Amino acid sequence: MGTIGSTDALTDVHAGDPYPVYAWLRESEPVYRCRTGAYLLTRYTDCRRVLTERACFLAPGPLRPSAGTAGACAPVLSRVMSAQNPPRHTRMRAAVARRFVEHVRGQQPWVSRLCDRLLDGVVERLRYGVADMSPLAEAFARDTIMHVLGLPQGDRERLCALVSDIFPTSGPLPGQECDGAVAMRQLTDYLHGQVARRRRAPGDDLMSELVEAHTACPEALPHEELVSILTGLTVAGYPQIAAGIETGIVLMIRHPKWAVFLDDAAGARMFVEEVLRYDAPVQFTPAPRIPARTVVLSGVTIPAGAHLWPVLGAANRDPGVFTRPDAFWPGRGGARHLSFGGGAHYCLGAELVYLEMVMLLRRLRQRLPDLAQARPPAQRVGRLRGFTSVAVRRAEADRHDR
Ligand code: HEM
Repeated sequence: MGTIGSTDALTDVHAGDPYPVYAWLRESEPVYRCRTGAYLLTRYTDCRRVLTERACFLAPGPLRPSAGTAGACAPVLSRVMSAQNPPRHTRMRAAVARRFVEHVRGQQPWVSRLCDRLLDGVVERLRYGVADMSPLAEAFARDTIMHVLGLPQGDRERLCALVSDIFPTSGPLPGQECDGAVAMRQLTDYLHGQVARRRRAPGDDLMSELVEAHTACPEALPHEELVSILTGLTVAGYPQIAAGIETGIVLMIRHPKWAVFLDDAAGARMFVEEVLRYDAPVQFTPAPRIPARTVVLSGVTIPAGAHLWPVLGAANRDPGVFTRPDAFWPGRGGARHLSFGGGAHYCLGAELVYLEMVMLLRRLRQRLPDLAQARPPAQRVGRLRGFTSVAVRRAEADRHDR
């Protein structure tokens, strides 16, 4: 690890296994100044503090979109919710949070049918050999958020292409620009069109309800904020869950003694919590926090206006807070992980994440209790964890073949 001071921690974090680098940072440079001038925070108490003390640690506020996103999409992008402060953030969050949870709960039977249908396909494929679980995770997460929002399922190929250009699975890291300007413009144009469609012909989906709220009181939910919320939910709505499901499947196969937690609902929730702690699907918050005045964190003085990035994956493995932090141990109890951030910007999609991860992992265990790894899974690197491929087979089938 001796090279870390001479390279940049971000480059190392980008490598396949960031946890040794995190451990070094937490111990030796818990407030690490990157070449970009941003600070990485790796201790749990520092991360928690900047996430929850809103009076002192602000979000960046309205963003200045890059040149490629000028035009009608610029006001939408400048209002990305995770970057806003009160009163705009409070207003946007109030417009969507309760409605989102109600729609997620109301769509549970639909999600359940989708889950069974996708698993039918996997069971069938496994009769003939190996199946890759990564496309299943993505299809489950993608079709679910499209259905909750009310986006036509026929548009999925187009949306997938846009989301993967906007949110490349391997990046970007803090301080790096996301190179998806054109895709972002196309996505916001598309969502403007969907909003117009819903205005003419409302349905019983979340988007229709948000459009109705905007029509009833445009001051409480201005048009740009409405489209910005929809953009955020579309972009954040599935790659992260897919990553969490992929990691859950890999851990379930690697740790059969803990997979029994999936046999009941309470145990499954503990299993999912530990998946989220052990390998946080999102390693950094989407937006930095900015101190309003000079602050001291882990003995380091930080000027007002600096960009602070809580490294959630590092905080979750802090030995000062978690017993045996590098062990996968469902039901461990103790402190709560920071994988959904914290405070006012706590992940808005958490309810959907629990619904999908618990449902899919439980049914997988019920239907395929003898699932085994067919090849080593291919780990994604960067801000988003998860795997690009999780090839599985049935261990029982091997026994029958012998
Ligand atoms: C395993 C999956 C997911 C993880 C690990 C995750 C993680 C996070 C994190 C770390 C934050 C930042 C919190 C902060 O800055 O304090 C966040 C915010 C957010 N997430 Fe998620 N997320 C996931 C899935 C989702 C889904 C499925 C949706 C929507 C359908 C979603 C929507 C949002 C939104 C809108 C915000 C911004 C909230 C705000 O600023 O008030 N996320 N998420």
